[in-house]
Amino acid sequence: MSRFAHITGWGTATPKRVLTNEELAQLVDTSDEWIVSRTGIHARYIADQDETTASLAAEAACRALAPTNIEAHDLDLIIVATSSPEHIFPATACLVQDEIGAINAGAFDLSAACTGFIFALNMAAQAIRTGSIDNALVIGSETLSRLVNWEDRTTCILFGDGAGAFVLQGSDRPGGIYTCVMRSDGSGGDLLSLPAGGSKIPTSIKTVEQNLHTIQMNGREVFRFATRVMASATREVVESAGWTIEQVDRVIPHQANLRIIEAAARGLRMPMDKFVVNLEKYGNTSTASIPLAACEAVERGMVKAGDRVVLVGFGAGLTWGALSLEWVEPERKVSPLVRRRRRVFAFLARVRSFLRRIQRKLEGLIWGTSTHPDR
Ligand code: COA
Repeated sequence: MSRFAHITGWGTATPKRVLTNEELAQLVDTSDEWIVSRTGIHARYIADQDETTASLAAEAACRALAPTNIEAHDLDLIIVATSSPEHIFPATACLVQDEIGAINAGAFDLSAACTGFIFALNMAAQAIRTGSIDNALVIGSETLSRLVNWEDRTTCILFGDGAGAFVLQGSDRPGGIYTCVMRSDGSGGDLLSLPAGGSKIPTSIKTVEQNLHTIQMNGREVFRFATRVMASATREVVESAGWTIEQVDRVIPHQANLRIIEAAARGLRMPMDKFVVNLEKYGNTSTASIPLAACEAVERGMVKAGDRVVLVGFGAGLTWGALSLEWVEPERKVSPLVRRRRRVFAFLARVRSFLRRIQRKLEGLIWGTSTHPDR
């Protein structure tokens, strides 16, 4: 019997603070008029000190899990797609796993820049379809504001912070995630990069002085690449699903720039009203942009049961990709009793994490010295 991967839960999280174009114009030599006409962006969310990639991811994850019929401990897999991980390691996904109490899940980060959420969804859906797992959590989460050079007007106007999450569950009912196109071209890696802080160029006073730990971008070249691949990836994924372009009900594109989305629509000869656009409020939130747009589209009734939907994105790497899915309305009956039980589980997850840390310290005290080869 065929197995399908359905999206049964979705949720988002955004920082409290909003930064408008007018406020940005007080920081760098720019204007609301320039930013809106070149990008379509009006504002973006910016994380405060206490808001991190993992905390936003965990918040979105809890919202995505809340209406489903599973608990965090039923998750088999957590993938966090991110370009601004909490650390190089441990993986942000492991921090989320601990925070939400997903004690039976394998967790890892996926690095494919803004295409990451599409790649991660495909990985999780494939694991479900092969029958190797039942339940997965896929998150796109970013605090790009921490990686931006706030004196560089060509990049700081573009990016914002936020997170979005999908819960995927196996089902015998047709629908859910169908096909995916995943592409990359490392020869364009220098067009959009964060050069320092990795193993090739470790952080040093020099890298900080030269701003090599912030986003470097050739905007015009990225623009050209993006307009080309958005249309070609959409065409390819539609063909692989056995659909025609006309049969697609909704396209949820990566929210980088309104002009890029408009160019893709023209290239595909599709009306703009089939495209979900919310970048005016969020800016480019990299891996979070597609789930943020998808959740908003569902809440606004722009995506309904039976709709044929395409997700399409591009980003640093270079990477690009598209994914086809048929939206299935999940059964969402969660009793007040289950909600109360969930609150207890969330509290217990924190207690468990605390006790595990103490247990590890005690084990270290008791066994630590005798396991050292020299002692
Ligand atoms: N405010 C005012 N002027 C600005 C500016 C800003 N924030 N940023 C650049 N300019 C100036 C430039 O200095 C240039 O001035 P000049 O003509 O005197 O040299 C002029 O505006 C035009 O610059 P240009 O780079 O050609 O603008 P553009 O129309 O290509 O728009 C981007 C710039 C960045 C908005 C656009 O190239 C883009 O969106 N690229 C894709 C970036 C992207 O999506 N990255 C993320 C991928 S996931």
